[in-house]
Amino acid sequence: MANPTNPFNSDLPFSQDIDILKQPLQIGEKTIPNRLVCQPMEGCDGTLEGRPGSLTQRRYGRFAAGGSGLIWVEATAVTPEARANPRQLWLNPTNVDSFKKLVEMVHETAYKAGQAQPLLILQATHSGRYSKPYGFPKPIIAYNNPLFEKQPLPSSCIITDDELDRLPEKMAATAKLAQQCGFDGVDIKSCHRYLFSELLSAFNRSGRYGGSFDNRTRLLTESITAAIQGCPSSFIVTSRLNVYDGFPFPYGFGVREGGDTEVDLSEPIRLIEKLQSLGVGLLNITMGNPYVNPHVNRPYKSGGYTPDENPIDGVKRILDNTAILQRRFPTLPLIASGLSLLAEQAPPVAAGLIAGGGAAMAGFGRMSFAYPDFAKQILANPSKPLDASKCCIACSKCSQLMRAGGMAGCVIKDSEVYLPIFKQYVLKGK
Ligand SMILES: Cc1cc2nc3c(=O)[nH]c(=O)nc-3n(C[C@H](O)[C@H](O)[C@H](O)COP(=O)(O)O)c2cc1C
Repeated sequence: MANPTNPFNSDLPFSQDIDILKQPLQIGEKTIPNRLVCQPMEGCDGTLEGRPGSLTQRRYGRFAAGGSGLIWVEATAVTPEARANPRQLWLNPTNVDSFKKLVEMVHETAYKAGQAQPLLILQATHSGRYSKPYGFPKPIIAYNNPLFEKQPLPSSCIITDDELDRLPEKMAATAKLAQQCGFDGVDIKSCHRYLFSELLSAFNRSGRYGGSFDNRTRLLTESITAAIQGCPSSFIVTSRLNVYDGFPFPYGFGVREGGDTEVDLSEPIRLIEKLQSLGVGLLNITMGNPYVNPHVNRPYKSGGYTPDENPIDGVKRILDNTAILQRRFPTLPLIASGLSLLAEQAPPVAAGLIAGGGAAMAGFGRMSFAYPDFAKQILANPSKPLDASKCCIACSKCSQLMRAGGMAGCVIKDSEVYLPIFKQYVLKGK
C-alpha cells in the first residue's frame, strides 16, 4: 500500500523512521558504526607522485568529521599508466607514508569531532580506456567498441592476455600496501567501464579473458583471490561492481541479449555467487558509465544532455535492482548508490530501502561533496530533515570540473574553493 507521506508515491521505498540508519553493521571482523557511506569521489587533486594533495586531505577531513560509518576512498591507480589523470592518486611503495598519514588524519579528525571511527576502504583501479596519465588519452582497452569508437583504436591499445595475467598480482600488492597504511579494506574496482568493468562485457574478445562468462570475469575473480590470499583475514576485500552498463548486447554487462538496453541480472547474479564463494563479504552496487550514459550512473537535474527519462526513474533503476540482488543474497551486505538526486528526501528513502531488505547501507557521492556532514545531521536528529539549502542540487558541475581537467568538488555549496577552479577550467576566465 502506498505510504501517504511518501512524496514519490510507491515509486521509491520510504520510511520516516530512520533509526535503522544508526545501526552498526558487522563485516567479518570489522564493525561499521552506521549505515551511511561516503561513496568514492575522485577530486583529481593528488600530487604528480600519486600522493594525496592538500585538497585531498581537506576532503577526507571533512568526510571524517561528517559522521559516515564508511568512507570509500576514491579511485587510486595500481600502476602509473593506469591513472585517469596526472593527479589521480596512485599507491606505490614510495608513497605509503602519505597514505598512512591520510588514514591517521581521518581517525584523529573523526575522534576530535566526536564521531564514531569510520571504516576506510581504498578503491584500487585500472582506468583502462580512460587512462590519461599525462593529461591526454592513452587508452588501454579490453576490446574495440563501436558504440564508443567512431574508428577502431589500433590493436596496440588492446591489452594483451599476458598483460592481464600480471594484474591480479598488482592488485594484490596494492591491497597489501593499503592494509599496511591502515585501511580496513580494498575495493577491486569493477565499475563504470574502467578496465575490469569493460572486460565483463568482452563477449567478442578472443583468448583467456573474452567470450565465456568464466573468461570475462577471470580478471576480477583472480584479483579478488590474490588480494584475499595476500592480506590478513580481518582485511575486507570487496568490489564496486557495475551490475548494469546500459549498453546493448554484446557491448554491455547486465543487459538482455536482443533486448536493447533492458536490464538482465542473470550474469551479475552468477558473478555475485562466485564472489561470495571466494569470501567477499560486502559489495558496492552501481551502474552505467559516467562518460556515455551519465544519467544511468548519476541521475541529474542538469547535465550534458537531457535524457528521455525522469531522473527519479534513474534512481529507481539503481535502487530496485540493488534490492533484487540484496533479496537474492540476504547474507551479503550490499551498498546502494545514486541517492544524491533525492536531496533532503534521501534519508527516508535510504531508511525505507534498508528496512525493506533492499540494501544494507546507503551510499552518497555528490552529496558528500556538497554536504560532507550529512550523516552527522541525520544521525544526531533523525526526526529533523536534512537542511535542503546544503544538499547537492545534481547540477553536474563537479563532473564538468573533472572533465575539464580541474580539481573536483562542489562548485555550488563549497564555492569558496571550487568556484574559482570552475572559472579557471570550465569558464576559462569568461
Ligand atoms: C566528480 C565525481 C567523481 C567520482 N569519482 C568516483 C570514483 O573515484 N570512484 C567511483 O567508483 N565512482 C566515482 N564517482 C561516482 C560516484 O561515486 C557515484 O556513484 C555517483 O555520483 C552516483 O551517486 P550519487 O547520486 O550519490 O552522487 C564519481 C562521481 C563524480 C560526480
